[in-house]
Amino acid sequence: MDKIFWNNNWQFVEECNNEFLFQKEYTGDIQMVRIPHTNVVTEFNYFGDEVYQMQMGYRKIFTPEQEWEGKHVLLTFEGAAHHAQVYLNGKLIGEHFSGYTAFQMDLAPHLRFGEENLLSVFLDSREDLNIPPFGKVVDYMTYGGIYRDVYIEVKEKYYIEDVFVVTTDVTKSLKQLKTEITLNSEVGPEYHIRQYMTNQFNEIIELGESNRISSNHILQWGVEDVELWNVDSPTLYTLVTELYENKTKVDEKKVRFGFREAIFKKDGFYLNGQKIKLRGLNRHQSYPYVGYAMPKSPQIRDADILKEELGLNAVRTSHYPQSQYFIDRCDEIGLLVFTEFPGWQHIGDEKWKEIACKNVEEMVLQYRNHPSIIIWGVRINESRDDDEFYTKTNEIAHSLDPSRSTGGVRCIKHSNLLEDVYTYNDFYHDGITKGAEAKKAVTSNMEKPYLISEYNGHMYPTKNFDCEGHRLEQAIRHATVLDEIHQHEDILGGFGWCMFDYNTHKDFGSGDRICYHGVMDMFRNSKLAASVYASYLSDRTILEISSSMDIGEHPGGCTKDIYAFTNADAVRVYKNDMFIKEFTHGDSNFKHIHNAPILIDDFIGNQLIENEEYSPEKSAEVKKLLAAVSKYGVNHLPLKNKLGAAKLMLFYGMKPEDVYDLYGKYIGNWGGEVTSYRFEAIKNNKVVKTVIKQPFHEIELSVDVDHTRLVEDHTYDVASIRLNAVDESGNQLYYYNEPISLETEGEIELIGPACISFKGGMTGTYVKTIGNAGDAALIIRGLNGKEYRISFTVELQK
Ligand code: GAL
Repeated sequence: MDKIFWNNNWQFVEECNNEFLFQKEYTGDIQMVRIPHTNVVTEFNYFGDEVYQMQMGYRKIFTPEQEWEGKHVLLTFEGAAHHAQVYLNGKLIGEHFSGYTAFQMDLAPHLRFGEENLLSVFLDSREDLNIPPFGKVVDYMTYGGIYRDVYIEVKEKYYIEDVFVVTTDVTKSLKQLKTEITLNSEVGPEYHIRQYMTNQFNEIIELGESNRISSNHILQWGVEDVELWNVDSPTLYTLVTELYENKTKVDEKKVRFGFREAIFKKDGFYLNGQKIKLRGLNRHQSYPYVGYAMPKSPQIRDADILKEELGLNAVRTSHYPQSQYFIDRCDEIGLLVFTEFPGWQHIGDEKWKEIACKNVEEMVLQYRNHPSIIIWGVRINESRDDDEFYTKTNEIAHSLDPSRSTGGVRCIKHSNLLEDVYTYNDFYHDGITKGAEAKKAVTSNMEKPYLISEYNGHMYPTKNFDCEGHRLEQAIRHATVLDEIHQHEDILGGFGWCMFDYNTHKDFGSGDRICYHGVMDMFRNSKLAASVYASYLSDRTILEISSSMDIGEHPGGCTKDIYAFTNADAVRVYKNDMFIKEFTHGDSNFKHIHNAPILIDDFIGNQLIENEEYSPEKSAEVKKLLAAVSKYGVNHLPLKNKLGAAKLMLFYGMKPEDVYDLYGKYIGNWGGEVTSYRFEAIKNNKVVKTVIKQPFHEIELSVDVDHTRLVEDHTYDVASIRLNAVDESGNQLYYYNEPISLETEGEIELIGPACISFKGGMTGTYVKTIGNAGDAALIIRGLNGKEYRISFTVELQK
C-alpha cells in the first residue's frame, strides 16, 4: 500500500522521436538519469531560455510484479515541465498540461504480465505552449524535465482516492474533525470504513467506524484533548482511514493534518482566534544549475531558512504550487503559506483558461490537507480583470475547499474583487516615498481583508558585490515597508519580493539573466537585508553592522549612515577599546517593527569633553557638525548644519581648520593609527555577541553545510553548501571574488562546475549521492593555497 518510488533507471533523450517512445530497442544515444531530473544543467548566469526548451523523452522498461494482476497500478508524476504525454506499451494513457501540479493515471489496463513493458513520456518544455504561464513574457525561468518524484501505488479493486480533512471549533474543548472520503467507485454493503488518528508520539486515538458508505462519504468526529497547530507549536496528527471488505482491510490512507482555523478579517488574519501580522517573503522554487530539479533536503532547507534564519511566519509560493516536501516542512515548522496556481500577468484564450481552471482544481485537491496553507491564490499573478474567468477560479477553489479564503495577486489598483481577500503588489516605496500605500488608495472594498503580496524586488536590485551603501539601502527599504505595514491594522501583512535571487528571461534582471531581488543570493547566502527579518528571531543572537568601517569604500570618504541590525536589547560601541555609546531600539527611526535597525550615529562619545576639554554643549554641537560632514560631505551640508557651524565660529571661536582637524582625528583618520571598532550586543545586561571591525589580516573560509549524513531513500540526496570568505573576526569580505576548485571523493558528485568563484565574498555548491553507501568528501582548494575538507557519510534507506 505504500508508495513505490520510480525515480531511478530512466532513459532520457533531449530530442524525442517515435522510435524512443514506442520501440523497446532504441538505436540512438540515451542517458540514464534519476528523478528529480533537469533536462539541462545550466550556467550560473548568462544563459538563455533556449537551453531548456526542448521536446524531450523519458522512458522506463520494467516487468510488472505478478501480484499486481487484477489490481489498480496508479502512476503519479509530482511535476513534469510542462506538457506531458505518457504511453504504456505504445498506448497513450495520460496527458497533462502544467509543469507545476501532479497527475496520475492507472497503468493496469495496459500492463503486460510476464514480459518487459515500456513506459515512455514525451515531455515538451517549449515556452510557446498554449498553457500557463506561457503566452507573453515571464519573469522567471521555467526550465524542463521530470523534476519531482514519480511513484506507483498498487490498489485493490476498491480503494480510497482521497480524504479531505477540515477542522472547526478548534478553540472549543470539543473540536470538530470533518473528513470527506472519496472512493474510486461505489461499493457494496460488505464494505466499511474505520478512522483513527495518531499523535506525535504515535499513540492511537480511535475515532470510529461507518457502514453503508458511499463513494463520497462524510464523517465528522468531535475530538477532545488535542493540541492546536499554530506557528509556535505546529502540532500535527495523522488521520488514518481504512477501507474494509468484511473483515479484510483493502486500503488505507494516511493524511497528516493539524487542528487549526485560519480566518481573514478586515482587521487582521486570525489563526485559532489569535491575530497574527503576516510577515513573509516570496519564494521561487529554483536553484543554481539544476533549475527546479532538487529532491527533498534542499526543499526542506528553504522552509527552514525562512523560519529559522529569516524569522518569518509566512511564505508565498510565487507563482505556482511548489514541492510537497517544501509544504510538508512548512506544516512541520509552522510557516504559513500563500499558494497560487501557475501564471504570470498573461491570460490566454479559452483553451488556455480551461487548463488554468484545471490547475486550480489540481492545486486545491493536491494541497488542501496542509495546515500551513491559509489562502489560495486564484488570479493569475498581476493579470488584468477577467470577471468570467475569475468567477470560475473562485468557484472551483470554494467548492473544493470551503474552509479557506481565496486571494488573487493584482498590481492594478481598484481592480474587481471576486476573492475573499484583496491581495496587492505594492511597489510604491522608492526609497523616498512612504513604505506602502494606504488600503483605501488601492481598493474601495474597505470591508474586505487586505494583504500586500509583494514589495521592493525590482525597485532596488542588490548584489552582494554592490557597494556598501547600496546593500544598506536595500535593507533600509525592507525595514521601511515593514514598518509601514506594521502601522496599519487594515494591512494584514506583507510578502517581500523575494527570498533569493533567481535566473530569469532576457526581459528582466541585470542582463546576466539574474534578478537580484533576493534578500539572499541564489545559494541562499544572506544579504544585509536579510538581517531586517532575522532581527525578529528570539532563539539566537543577531548582530550585523552595515559597514566595514572603511571610509575609503565611500565617495569622498563620507561613510553616511551606519546601522546595527540586532535582536539584542542594546548595542555598545567601542572605538579602540574606548567606550563610545550604548544604543537601543528606542533610538531607532523605525517605530513599528520588532527589533528595528538602529542608526549608530555617534563614534565620538565623550572624547571631545575628555580630550579637548569642551563643554557638553560645545561637544554636542561639534559632534552634530562632524556627523553631518561624514554624511553629506563638506560642500553639501544641510542648512541646519551650516547654522550649527556658524554658531561654533561665532560663540565658540572655532575656525574651519579646527573642524577639519577634529574630523581627521575623530572620524576620517586617513593614514592614522589602526582603528578598531567593537560592537557588543547586550541582552539582560550581558554581552551576548561581539562584532569587531578592524583592518583585515587573514582570509578564511566559512563553510555551512546543511547536513553531512546523506540518505538515499526515494532518490538521491543533496547537501547544500554555503561558502563565505570572511576575515579573522568572521566579517564577510564582500569584495573577494577569487576562484576555488571543488573535488569530490567517494560516494558523492558535484552539482555544477568544479571551479567556481566567489561573488561578493560568497558562493556555494551542492553535492549529490550516487546510489551507493559509504564515505565521501568534498575538498575545496583556494583562498591563498588553503585546502578544506568536508566529510560526508552516505546511507541507503530503500
Ligand atoms: C512583480 C512580479 C514578480 C517579480 C517582481 C519583481 O511584478 O509579480 O514575479 O517580477 O515584480 O519585483
